[in-house]
Amino acid sequence: MKAVIGGDVSHAVELLRAGELVAIPTETVYGLAANAFDPRAVLRVFEVKDRPAFDPLIVHIGDRVQLERVVAAWPREAEALARMFWPGPLTLVLPRHPDIPDLVTSGADTVAVRMPDHPQTRELLHATGFPLAAPSANPFGYVSPTSAWHVAQQLGDRIPYILDGGPCGVGVESTIVAPLPEGGWELLRPGGIPVERIEPLVGELAYRRKVGPPVAPGMLSGHYAPRKPVHVGDLTKLARRFQGRRTAMICFHQEHPAFRCEVLSPSGDLAEAAMHLFAVLRELDESPCEVILAEEFPEEGLGRAINDRLRRASAART
Ligand code: TXA
Ligand code: MG
Repeated sequence: MKAVIGGDVSHAVELLRAGELVAIPTETVYGLAANAFDPRAVLRVFEVKDRPAFDPLIVHIGDRVQLERVVAAWPREAEALARMFWPGPLTLVLPRHPDIPDLVTSGADTVAVRMPDHPQTRELLHATGFPLAAPSANPFGYVSPTSAWHVAQQLGDRIPYILDGGPCGVGVESTIVAPLPEGGWELLRPGGIPVERIEPLVGELAYRRKVGPPVAPGMLSGHYAPRKPVHVGDLTKLARRFQGRRTAMICFHQEHPAFRCEVLSPSGDLAEAAMHLFAVLRELDESPCEVILAEEFPEEGLGRAINDRLRRASAART
């Protein structure tokens, strides 16, 4: 393996300044970061991830000065959202600043921006002085990494450094929202900030445009998927359907009889469940089970993001 795993922020700064890629910790998942203003470094991000060029990146900022170099407009609701949720797991899609390279936005006239809430990455952003373009640090389509080791397992041969910030506290990616031309805001991806907390600030969120190409490929079904087949639904029925197979189950707070069973939060806390979801999916993918069965989580709070990722994981094979 080529990558060094370590906690040296100044080394990460040096590499990023030299146009290299560094995997960085955030509160949601680990990102694969490049200087957002260096098109060659950004191109490497697409190569390392095998990511199609039509899928734009999120730009991570450390402060308002960097924000001004990223967006060309800042609506009133954006200010309210940023005040309430930044630093934190909320991404805003807004008109892009002309200095942002085309590659970052896949040619779109909007840019996705967020201020992550992780001490080392905040320190890093202040030291570099430039914003970081960073998608999740996984091969395109696979489950996002929530530890430095997850990154090393898949991208360790392709990048020089993984900044280890410990396991991610939120565990699912940021919520992505965008203002609509006709007024109001749209939810592009449920994530770390529940919609129930956003709607009081911007009104009811519209869901998913019905026409046109996917606005966020994170919206594509078949994303966030392990290699093994995943089925989501009533565990008793699923258990019957897969009788005789080595089944692994992902449950919210109660155990079910299975070849292997993973309870995400014995106390029934959706935030704790979200934090463990991706690590458990990876573990089960490596385990001797044949099929992964997951129950549906309550469709509220972080449960929406959990259900969203599980459904997409299941859409990859069924
Ligand atoms: O929590 C997160 O958001 C993590 C951490 C590393 O910050 N990042 C992340 O990035 O999940 P990624 O690239 O895996 O997902 C970003 C999503 C993609 O689905 C992309 O299509 C969408 O954001 N996106 C980026 N720019 C966009 C834009 N201008 N318009 C619409 N969607 C955009
Ligand atoms: Mg991703």
